Amino acid sequence: MQASYSRLIQGIWRIADWGLDANGVAGLVSACLDLGIDTFDLADIYTGYQCEGMFGAALAQSPELKQRIRLITKCGIALVTPARPEHRVKHYNTSREHIVRSAENSLLAMGVEQIDTLLIHRPDPLMNVDEMAEAFMVLKRAGKVARFGVSNFLPHQFDLLQSRLDEPLAANQVEVSLLHTDTLFDGTLDQCQRLRVAPQAWSPLAGGALAKVEPASSLGKVLARLSEELGLTREQLAIAWLLRHPARIHPVLGSGKIERIQVLVAAQQIELDRQQWFELLEAALGRQMP
Ligand SMILES: NC(=O)c1ccc[n+]([C@@H]2O[C@H](COP(=O)([O-])OP(=O)(O)OC[C@H]3O[C@@H](n4cnc5c(N)ncnc54)[C@H](OP(=O)(O)O)[C@@H]3O)[C@@H](O)[C@H]2O)c1
Repeated sequence: MQASYSRLIQGIWRIADWGLDANGVAGLVSACLDLGIDTFDLADIYTGYQCEGMFGAALAQSPELKQRIRLITKCGIALVTPARPEHRVKHYNTSREHIVRSAENSLLAMGVEQIDTLLIHRPDPLMNVDEMAEAFMVLKRAGKVARFGVSNFLPHQFDLLQSRLDEPLAANQVEVSLLHTDTLFDGTLDQCQRLRVAPQAWSPLAGGALAKVEPASSLGKVLARLSEELGLTREQLAIAWLLRHPARIHPVLGSGKIERIQVLVAAQQIELDRQQWFELLEAALGRQMP
């Protein structure tokens, strides 16, 4: 097992929007591998609990891919949907039974023997960290999950769970982009840097909203000027801005179009200088640094 993820991760959340059949998804995975992206991000709940099965169908078409990819999936959110008639209300479930059962379901749906990293999708106000540690041990001992991490955890929630674990949590997947900068200031990325835990940035293009930033807005103007000066697209600038952060952010890309993914991969060659980075931050915040 490799020690670290590819710097860019491909998210599978929007699989139902991509208009691809199983062969098409397998082709996208293969094209990502050719571009150096070997890590794929899913969750039990995506597409009303269908995403892992759709991805598994692609892997069944091209089983040779299974040896070449690394899989992240998540558990802990319980949706109200026909696929789970027993759920009366949307809630979180981080009980020992739920974590173990959900990971086992994920393995079956994806048709693989091991999840590289299982993330707890959101902090659960009822989380019992002793039970969670037990669930992790059961899954690890059975070889079903190699590593565990969290998503959307604040530093104190991360510390609470970590306090019961023998092994370090492998990741915190959080929303961070030019349009969502909270984790820069709330201690989340500081904690990742201190512990050398890989932060993963979900919606690095703000779910496509970055493409719609008004050209006349402060961010629109800086994006246009830097794009012109550096010969980059605004999406490449947004990814380069994340990659420049010293916590070693891993952006989780969401496009299903390989030509767009290819453009974003090229952003890894760009290193924004400190002043370019701050120009983008100040424009995004709409104010100067104090
Ligand atoms: N842990 C969590 O709580 C959490 C929450 C949300 C998401 N995630 C993960 O993060 C991954 C990425 O999230 P995301 O999909 O929101 O990422 P994103 O990369 O910010 O957004 C992707 C969306 O932007 C569109 N887009 C990209 N470039 C564009 C352009 N130049 N013009 C117009 N639209 C453009 C894409 O459309 P096209 O497909 O047409 O290119 C796609 O709909 C998900 O797949 C999931 O794995 C995790």
